[in-house]
Amino acid sequence: MASKDIFYITTPIYYVNDVPHIGHAYTTVAADVVARYQRLLGREVFFLTGTDEHGMKIEKTADQRGMTPQELVDEVVERFQHLWKVLNISHDDFIRTTEERHSRAVTAFFQKVQENGGIYLGTYEDWYCIPCETFWTANQLENGNCPECGRPAEKVKEKSYFFRMSHYREQLLAHIEEHPEFIQPASKRNEILSFIKEELRDLSISRTSFSWGIPVPGDEKHVIYVWFDALINYLTAAGYPDDQQRFSRLWPADIHLIGKDILRFHAVYWPTFLFAAGLPLPCKVFAHGWWTVEGEKMSKSRGNVVDPVVIADEYGVDPFRYFLLREVPFGLDGDFSRSAMKGRLNSDLANDLGNLFSRSISMIGKYRQGKIPLPDPTDQRYADFSILAAEIFAEVSVGMEDLAFSKVLQSIWKLVVKGNKFIDQQAPWALAKDDAKAKDLDQVLYCIAELLRLLAAYLLPFMPERSGEMIRQLGLTREHYSQGEDIFSWGKMPSGTLTERGPSLFPRLD
Ligand code: MSP
Repeated sequence: MASKDIFYITTPIYYVNDVPHIGHAYTTVAADVVARYQRLLGREVFFLTGTDEHGMKIEKTADQRGMTPQELVDEVVERFQHLWKVLNISHDDFIRTTEERHSRAVTAFFQKVQENGGIYLGTYEDWYCIPCETFWTANQLENGNCPECGRPAEKVKEKSYFFRMSHYREQLLAHIEEHPEFIQPASKRNEILSFIKEELRDLSISRTSFSWGIPVPGDEKHVIYVWFDALINYLTAAGYPDDQQRFSRLWPADIHLIGKDILRFHAVYWPTFLFAAGLPLPCKVFAHGWWTVEGEKMSKSRGNVVDPVVIADEYGVDPFRYFLLREVPFGLDGDFSRSAMKGRLNSDLANDLGNLFSRSISMIGKYRQGKIPLPDPTDQRYADFSILAAEIFAEVSVGMEDLAFSKVLQSIWKLVVKGNKFIDQQAPWALAKDDAKAKDLDQVLYCIAELLRLLAAYLLPFMPERSGEMIRQLGLTREHYSQGEDIFSWGKMPSGTLTERGPSLFPRLD
């Protein structure tokens, strides 16, 4: 982790040739959870997302739709911005590569690399896949098709500026070997290592056959390669090149979150560009897996592309966020199905968490007029909970550091399971019948309320809206959750707080 005081996390910037789907929602929700968690710990956070608006793919799509590229990107960007509102994404900045601040940064960066001898003019003669915006050699093609997406590649022969990527091979290998945390998960690091060990060729970074992009400074016939352009967004938003003071507070980024298909761009191209510009590398690049839908690859031609707005509407925003991070260990591939989504909602959320919450609040209402009683901290049950809380905190801290969201949620669910079991064992309804057990009942109800307070804290990053509702029903405010790490320790529920029963947190879907 960087020693800077601001925690900087990014998502990829999404292509706006097409509307957003569940894959886009996935990375962005994951980044949002990390950003919210860091803020809860009291850290200043800069969370960046945005859109990748240049390149041949966008130009072609606009052409097919009878629009200018600018009209296309202006239309589609709104779909992304709307989705992030719906999903409650707390980004601090939204960057579009067509913004003036970005072309300034790309131009300056290009010139810097050029000054450092990293760029030369040559001729590119090989293959290009437009949907992937990727160059391939004839050997890499599979039956003339792109090895990545299987679609036909096109032959290109044109003058092109090249980036001397081969020159940075040793430096990159050394960096990856010295920083095991740089590329994650580890299986992906190994893939990248074997890729670099084979050969690292210089990279074509300009095109002359279309015009939708940022011109090469001093040679305007050339448009800068869309990936060279796009990766620099992470610097632009941090203030590069004009605002040195801001830039040095933000850069290097702590985490670039990406999908596995774009790892090579982030773990090979990007670090070598940064070496060439004399800038530090991001601390961590984490590649997550891909979603299939009902067991099949998602694609327009199959007509099975999942619109996150529809899912959020059917199942609720927070259950959808929970599902995305709970269902599949981060880093592995997973499958989205309506039955799995509904299963998580009905069992984990409605049965386990929702029931625990509503029966607890209703007992506090019934037996103590809604008022949180005074605990006895010397009581064994209180002490046991305090040990459990410390254990969970340790597990969650490690899990969040590793971006092991599914594991983190399983740890949090230990509290849910424990809560339900505790209520069954202690049977507050029996204690309530015996006046001599009043202190005992106070103790039990306090422990339950405190458990709920803790749960709301842990779930705030994952389900911000539903946790907000838990906090409200507990009679607390967000103020109580702004004490940094302290909110995760046992015993912070103020006695005397007045709880207020509200609607069920997660109604069952039948
Ligand atoms: N514009 C580039 C990124 C530039 S970053 C400097 C790009 N855009 S994209 O819109 O095509 O894809 C963005 C992200 O969506 C990638 O991280 C990709 O992995 C992710 N996904 C696309 N389909 C996906 C699934 N089916 N499942 C999970 N994530 C997927 O690439």
